[in-house]
Amino acid sequence: MGKPLSLITPLVLSIFILMFMKCSSCPAHQKQSLLHFKASILTIFNSSNSSSETSFFSLDSWDSTSDCCNWERVICSPRTREITALYLDSLLLMPSDQPIVVDSRILDPVFRIRSLMFLDVSLNNIQGEISGEGLANLSKLVHLDMRQNGLVGSIPRQVFHLRFLRFLDLSSNSLKGGLSGEVGRLGNLRTCKLDENFLGGDIPAEIGNLTKLQQFSVRQNQFSGGIPDSILDLKELEVLDLRSNQLVMQIPREIGSLSNISTLALSKNFFTGVIPPSIRNLSKLETLRLEDNRFSGDIPAWLFDMESLKNLFLGGNQMIWNNNVKIVPKCLLSQLSLKSCKIAGEIPEWISTQKNLDFLELSDNELTGRFPLWLSEMEVGSILLSDNRLTGSIPSRLFQSLSLSILALSRNNFSGELPENIGEANEIMILMLSGNNFSGPIPKSIADIYRLLLLDLSGNKFSGNTFPIFDPDGLLAYVDLSSNELSGDIPVSFCTETKILALGNNKFSGKLPRNFTNMNQLEHLDLHDNNITGEYPEFLSQMSSLQVLNLRNNSLHGSLPSKSFSNQSNLRILDLSNNNLGGSIPSELGNLMGMIETPSTSSLTTDMFTFSIEFKDLIVNWKKAIRGLSSRRLDIYSLLDLSNNKFSGNIPSSLGNLKGLKLLSISNNRLSGNIPQSFGDLESVETLDLSNNNISGVIPQSFTRLKQLSVLDVSNNKLSGRIPQGGQMDLMNVLNYFANNSGLCGVQIGVKCPDDQLTPEADEEGDDSEKEPWFLWKGALIGFSLGFVFSVLMAFLGGYFVLPPPPKPKYHSVKYRL
Ligand SMILES: *[C@@H]1O[C@H](CO)[C@@H](O)[C@H](O)[C@H]1NC(C)=O
Ligand SMILES: *[C@@H]1O[C@H](CO)[C@@H](O)[C@H](O)[C@H]1NC(C)=O
Ligand SMILES: *[C@@H]1O[C@H](CO)[C@@H](O)[C@H](O)[C@H]1NC(C)=O
Ligand SMILES: *[C@@H]1O[C@H](CO)[C@@H](O)[C@H](O)[C@H]1NC(C)=O
Ligand SMILES: *[C@@H]1O[C@H](CO)[C@@H](O)[C@H](O)[C@H]1NC(C)=O
Ligand SMILES: *[C@@H]1O[C@H](CO)[C@@H](O)[C@H](O)[C@H]1NC(C)=O
Ligand SMILES: *[C@@H]1O[C@H](CO)[C@@H](O)[C@H](O)[C@H]1NC(C)=O
Ligand SMILES: *[C@@H]1O[C@H](CO)[C@@H](O)[C@H](O)[C@H]1NC(C)=O
Ligand SMILES: *[C@@H]1O[C@H](CO)[C@@H](O)[C@H](O)[C@H]1NC(C)=O
Ligand SMILES: *[C@@H]1O[C@H](CO)[C@@H](O)[C@H](O)[C@H]1NC(C)=O
Ligand SMILES: *[C@@H]1O[C@H](CO)[C@@H](O)[C@H](O)[C@H]1NC(C)=O
Ligand SMILES: *[C@@H]1O[C@H](CO)[C@@H](O)[C@H](O)[C@H]1NC(C)=O
Repeated sequence: MGKPLSLITPLVLSIFILMFMKCSSCPAHQKQSLLHFKASILTIFNSSNSSSETSFFSLDSWDSTSDCCNWERVICSPRTREITALYLDSLLLMPSDQPIVVDSRILDPVFRIRSLMFLDVSLNNIQGEISGEGLANLSKLVHLDMRQNGLVGSIPRQVFHLRFLRFLDLSSNSLKGGLSGEVGRLGNLRTCKLDENFLGGDIPAEIGNLTKLQQFSVRQNQFSGGIPDSILDLKELEVLDLRSNQLVMQIPREIGSLSNISTLALSKNFFTGVIPPSIRNLSKLETLRLEDNRFSGDIPAWLFDMESLKNLFLGGNQMIWNNNVKIVPKCLLSQLSLKSCKIAGEIPEWISTQKNLDFLELSDNELTGRFPLWLSEMEVGSILLSDNRLTGSIPSRLFQSLSLSILALSRNNFSGELPENIGEANEIMILMLSGNNFSGPIPKSIADIYRLLLLDLSGNKFSGNTFPIFDPDGLLAYVDLSSNELSGDIPVSFCTETKILALGNNKFSGKLPRNFTNMNQLEHLDLHDNNITGEYPEFLSQMSSLQVLNLRNNSLHGSLPSKSFSNQSNLRILDLSNNNLGGSIPSELGNLMGMIETPSTSSLTTDMFTFSIEFKDLIVNWKKAIRGLSSRRLDIYSLLDLSNNKFSGNIPSSLGNLKGLKLLSISNNRLSGNIPQSFGDLESVETLDLSNNNISGVIPQSFTRLKQLSVLDVSNNKLSGRIPQGGQMDLMNVLNYFANNSGLCGVQIGVKCPDDQLTPEADEEGDDSEKEPWFLWKGALIGFSLGFVFSVLMAFLGGYFVLPPPPKPKYHSVKYRL
């Protein structure tokens, strides 16, 4: 009996194994759902005209003949072979192309996989509402990640019934409070001034039902109102991230009862009140981010007694540093931000005890004294001390640092030469020293810092005519050296990837070098207030990426070659004022697409960098008043300034094509002939300055169509006839702007026309000239100075931009067990 059995056993076993293998593939309906999902993704991808051929979303392994448990991005239960985890993040993410828009219904097949415990659909640009019914199916969910999509509406109430949920990340969407299907819908009625709670601004109280929740992130959404008290029921909570919403409330006093909290991030909301003392009881608290709210009171010194604390961000509130308290910290911080806290005196020395410090921000305080030697020895990664009153020179020891990646010391009173060894600090990515009193040459070794992305040395007294030679293949993309005393030839040794180059208000001379065309990504070129000579360089036409070109107040002469503008479809801001350019204005200027189209979005803010850069306002002579145009919205401005040159001949009527222009100035030239009728098509123009020429004829009736017009200056010409009436023209009544012509008349200037019977209201004049004080600027500064000053809002190290993705299990392990 024993023998046959031992023979049969291997056979039975192998049959059994075969059968088991067969049974052990994933359930057919689940596979079907995934294939359905893949087909939808492919359809979207195919119809998006995407240039990339490759199947970047790696669903190749999803084929109908194989076991779906073996597919990439899919994990099954080893026991039941049902799908338990789906990693569907970043499926259609293409950094360069236009983002592909995905409708939220694409997830419908996924909602049929009821065994799911782990679902990640982050970074897919999914638009629309979250399906509540769909999520109700996934009652076993433990981990739900829908970060970085375009989800709208409220969090569906069904989410709050997912009783096993431990991880919920809905960050970077456009979600708002309230419960879906209820008042939430009224949220669209923006125009009605309804009570905020009625609009469903709050995070729903049902959040308290998710008692297993360990991480709750709704950062960067549109929640307003408050967090419900029921959040205090989430005893397991470790991470609460509500940053960048519009929450208006105080931190609940009992927050200290959430004893497992390690991250409390409430930045960029409207929180008020004081930091509740119960926070002291959070013995696991590592990260406390409260910056950019409306907290008030003194900054509690006990925070520094919390031994667990590693990252503390408190700046940008109304909280004040008590300068009399002596701090003896028990914490060992790695990040500390105390911007705008009215810290006075020297940089506090207790900081030197923080041996692990990697990020230090003390910007916008009242700090005095020198850059401390101990700080230069601490190997801090980011040091942000802008907007204080620090003096003296920078210790050369700082640049022996192996970790320094951001140094921002703008707008202090530092002086002296930059240490020659600055190039040793090889990790520097951002160096901002503008608005100080640094002098001497720019050390050549700066060019050795091969990671350097942004260099801002503007507004100092740097001088000399030797210049660092940057590696053409380097990374340096933003360079601002404006407002110094640099001289000699215009330097050209920048990286080919340079996007912004600002060299204005120096003493550079000579011709514009042809090598500029090597910078084929250049968007902004600013050389105003130098002594550039020679003719207008025709080669600029090869720089088709240029959006802003400022050559104001140089010594360019000759005529504008008509070919120069054929290629520059991106040019939106062109300032050639205050030169010696002559000849006629080329009619090709009327083809500049960047000035024809009303620009939509700029690439400036959405470029390759993972941190946000804020430019200081662009100072222009806007409507004849010196104004700052916010550079974040610089893309909406379009200007053409040819004033103060020697242009002659007729005004080309093609300029009327430039429908996107907000400012057109051709004043102080030798132009003659009539004002083209086509100027009535300049539908965006706000400032139109034709003054100080030899223009004759009448002001065209078409001017009444200029709906945006607020400044019209035609003074010192040979115009005659009636000033058109109607529309904005009725408001053009500054006498000086019509002065010195050959017989203008009209109600605007209170001069009767020969065929008039009306009596103008003479007593209005006095008032009007008072209402328009900006006329005093007339002739003072025509054009604008493109004074870029960069200020990094915060480094990626500070976490303002992309939070590093939470550590997630590799595709082949499921962290949670029910
Ligand atoms: C998408 O395009 C690929 C190849 O271009 C093709 O094989 C596939 O069938 C298309 N899918 C759909 C759903 O249109
Ligand atoms: C794809 O290209 C076709 C023509 O080439 C165009 O009609 C269609 O609108 C484009 N689709 C998208 C989504 O850009
Ligand atoms: C829920 O799952 C079932 C199958 O289990 C499916 O028929 C139904 O369509 C799903 N509901 C939604 C809203 O997806
Ligand atoms: C969910 O929370 C609400 C409000 O906090 C409560 O009334 C309800 O009973 C809870 N439901 C469950 C299933 O716990
Ligand atoms: C907090 O965390 C610990 C360890 O992770 C865990 O054992 C405990 O149950 C959690 N909850 C509370 C309320 O402490
Ligand atoms: C901190 O916890 C202790 C005991 O757990 C409690 O007695 C005390 O009141 C708490 N402190 C605050 C400020 O909540
Ligand atoms: C800058 O420092 C110098 C001394 O180094 C001092 O004379 C000057 O007043 C300071 N300027 C400002 C604006 O604090
Ligand atoms: C700048 O430094 C120079 C010396 O290099 C000094 O004479 C001048 O007073 C300083 N200016 C300011 C505003 O501190
Ligand atoms: C500029 O171009 C000329 C040749 O056109 C070349 O000899 C010179 O080295 C270039 N200079 C720089 C700094 O790239
Ligand atoms: C032109 O630039 C020079 C320096 O190059 C400066 O002195 C002068 O004030 C500037 N003129 C105007 C009108 O801005
Ligand atoms: C500009 O340079 C030219 C020639 O190099 C010189 O004659 C002129 O004086 C300079 N102008 C200014 C304002 O420095
Ligand atoms: C237009 O730009 C391209 C490169 O962007 C260049 O090759 C071409 O020569 C330019 N055309 C003119 C007329 O400058």
